[in-house]
Amino acid sequence: DIKGFAFDLDGVLADTARFHSQAWQQIALKLAIPWTERLEAGIKGIDRAASIALILNSVHRYDEFTAAEINQLMQEKNQIYNEYITTLTPKDVLPGIYQLLVELKQHGFPMSVASASRNAPAIIARLGIADFFTGIVDPAKVSAGKPAPDIFLEAAQILELQPAQVIGVEDSSAGVASIHAAGETSLGIGPEAFQAQIHFDNTAELSLTSIEAKLKSLH
Ligand code: BG6
Ligand code: MG
Repeated sequence: DIKGFAFDLDGVLADTARFHSQAWQQIALKLAIPWTERLEAGIKGIDRAASIALILNSVHRYDEFTAAEINQLMQEKNQIYNEYITTLTPKDVLPGIYQLLVELKQHGFPMSVASASRNAPAIIARLGIADFFTGIVDPAKVSAGKPAPDIFLEAAQILELQPAQVIGVEDSSAGVASIHAAGETSLGIGPEAFQAQIHFDNTAELSLTSIEAKLKSLH
């Protein structure tokens, strides 16, 4: 039985996936690397180092760059991203999410945040939803990012639940793979999360009732 929820942040709780994308696009532009749909989808859910590797490898060979150059690019991206997120307020919580968090809390489901982002605690605070969560996974403390299972396994541990008792909520392909590798039930949102066991087109469709209905048809 499902006892708790692990939420991805960017693209699930808030519309911040576009900020990651815009910030990386500026880095790509500077390097004269064309921005493609494959990059747009590919950077979702994966950590900073994996993102820059994907972007550089789309045109160059990653090993043409020194570690210092790569660090510099990651830092620049994070600076641009941090400027974007200073504008975030509780209004930027995606449609339906606040109501869902209230409903899940009322029904006694513990919740955690399973994001690859080192900026997650700051964003969750800005959105005004920190109190809903038992904890936020610290990606600096897990050895492998998504699609590896580590982040979603840690999210289950925070909830003091077995992975099989947890629903992982994701918008990215790498994130859904991470949920599956962790042995949790996957709830996907949007076009890139189509491999998820249960799927919604957008966050506005989420409620305990709609989730339970789709869970039933799984068994
Ligand atoms: C994920 C985003 O949530 O966090 C990725 O989907 C991002 O796009 C990753 O690269 C790491 O985030 P940050 O904020 O630590 O650079
Ligand atoms: Mg995401």
